[in-house]
Amino acid sequence: MSDSIYHEIVTGWREDDRARFSSAQFEFHESTGSTNDDLLEKLRRGEAGPFHLIVADSQTKGRGRRGDRWEGGDGRNLLFSLALQLGPEREKWSRLPHVAAYVVGSAVESILPPGNQIAAKWPNDLFGDGRKMAGILVETTLTPQPFAVVGIGLNVNLRLADLPPELHDISTSLYEVLGCESNRWFVLGLILQGFLREYPNIDTNFTDILDWIAPRDFLAGKNLRVVTGNKTIEGYAIGTGKGGELLVRDADNHVHHIISAEKIEVC
Ligand code: BTN
Repeated sequence: MSDSIYHEIVTGWREDDRARFSSAQFEFHESTGSTNDDLLEKLRRGEAGPFHLIVADSQTKGRGRRGDRWEGGDGRNLLFSLALQLGPEREKWSRLPHVAAYVVGSAVESILPPGNQIAAKWPNDLFGDGRKMAGILVETTLTPQPFAVVGIGLNVNLRLADLPPELHDISTSLYEVLGCESNRWFVLGLILQGFLREYPNIDTNFTDILDWIAPRDFLAGKNLRVVTGNKTIEGYAIGTGKGGELLVRDADNHVHHIISAEKIEVC
């Protein structure tokens, strides 16, 4: 099963992309606890390296940010975790969620009809038609080597009708926006090629990534209440800073550079 999915993913790829992603770097599980947990464990044991990918059809302990759960199964969506080797400059690690949002967002946009834009909500949710289509959870392990695990849940062929009514206004899928099914492995192939090409160059291309995000910024211009550490900041979002931080201008015209937030309320 794993082997046939691998071949479907890399069909039509350029040789140089294929050379950096072999079948030994790929694992598929019908069900697992969490692909992020599985990959973190493998990396800690030294059994996985750069661009190792774990995909599952369903998760029993799938994790989202802030303790949310992400289990979504039925083999209709994409749930996966990808290992990215971290460089020595820690201040650049906070760029990763934005790189992931860019890579996933541009893969999705390449399937949508021209003019259909995805919105990116800081730090790393992707929205289609104002509702959440994908979530990204970036975690790190420092031993034996520093790696990030980028965990992504992308609703591909999910039907809103299969979700509880309370989620209808806040969730969506590629299927719901496009009006027809997409091949999950083709979509995953696009995303992986994006990481293989963009990640090694993030020192030089991060400005382009921020330029891609700016017109798609879900929060820009909106009034926010942001809880970060022991502070609550109120103001309106003015975009993403050079290091990937959320910029919020308060009533005194002071611009706050927010690196992480426990809660963001859009007022
Ligand atoms: C969020 O929006 O809160 C982030 C959701 C991230 C979910 C993905 S699914 C694959 C990977 N494994 C996990 O346990 N979580 C991430």
